Amino acid sequence: MTKKHVLSGMRPTGKLHIGHYVGALENWIGLQEKYQNYHLIADYHVLTTNLNTENIYQDSLDMVIDWVACGIDPERSPIFRQSQIKEHCELQLIFSMLITVSRLERNPSLKDQVRDLDIETVIFGHLGYPVLQAADILLYKGSFVPVGEDQVPHVEITREIARRFNTQYGEVFPEPEPLLTKFSRLAGLDGKAKMSKSLDNTILLSDDPEMVKKRLKKAVTDPEKIYKNSPGHPDICLVYGYHKKFTPDQEEVKQIEADCRAGSLGCVDCKMRCAANISTVLAPILEKRRELENNMPLVKEILHDGETKARRLAVETMGQVREKMKLG
Ligand code: TRP
Repeated sequence: MTKKHVLSGMRPTGKLHIGHYVGALENWIGLQEKYQNYHLIADYHVLTTNLNTENIYQDSLDMVIDWVACGIDPERSPIFRQSQIKEHCELQLIFSMLITVSRLERNPSLKDQVRDLDIETVIFGHLGYPVLQAADILLYKGSFVPVGEDQVPHVEITREIARRFNTQYGEVFPEPEPLLTKFSRLAGLDGKAKMSKSLDNTILLSDDPEMVKKRLKKAVTDPEKIYKNSPGHPDICLVYGYHKKFTPDQEEVKQIEADCRAGSLGCVDCKMRCAANISTVLAPILEKRRELENNMPLVKEILHDGETKARRLAVETMGQVREKMKLG
């Protein structure tokens, strides 16, 4: 029996943080048993918001290290850069004929990004972002795409393009479904809704225990808990949110909640316990990271190998597309 394909992707924007782990990687790792997974490094997509490509290769290698350190098995699940497989561009061009400009302008993910990043004028490639993403997914015949809420509109566009192609030229593509992550967002240390490198409110997967403590010290907590023994409100406290995710013993989590409410647990102690628990989760990742960082030829080989495997499937799919379109 052949397994259905999962295509997951991320833009390489530097070292990953615990929000990526909780929101995406944990989920990806769990999918490896049931499906054939492909992991895409969306280096072309980075260009939509940053034209400076100085660090793009290093950022991509860092992402490979983080993925493998978290438990992606590159033997089973190829890891590859979009930019190394020409078929992405070819399929994107064909797909760009199957969707209207007004449909792309209505894309809420684009609107959000334009607002959040204060973008004044939208470049052609940014408007076409989801068209390239559709090519990413469908080249590998992805039936499922693990994403956060914010990416669902992109997957919807992929489905529309797949349908349009299949009715116009004949069945080639599945209509992919988003696989929503349960714990899809971890708030940033500043209390902002999202952990993000550009906001400098993250804990990195590469942070050692000292660094985790240092970063967590700065985390905002319940503003009404002014003194160590003031009663607090765990439900609105960021650090309690991290405890729920990283403190393995649920009894301990309950105790922390009760002690905070009673005013018998101060924020500093609470943060240090949280830091220790986060570091326990990160310890094996950190170790594996170091091992890989000290063996860059292996990291490069993982990428090369993934690109060879991914290319094989991309070429095959593109052959089917050309055949259906009488462009053979
Ligand atoms: N748009 C995705 C993000 O910003 C990255 C991405 C590019 C992607 N191509 C993809 C995700 C294909 C899933 C499938 O996170």
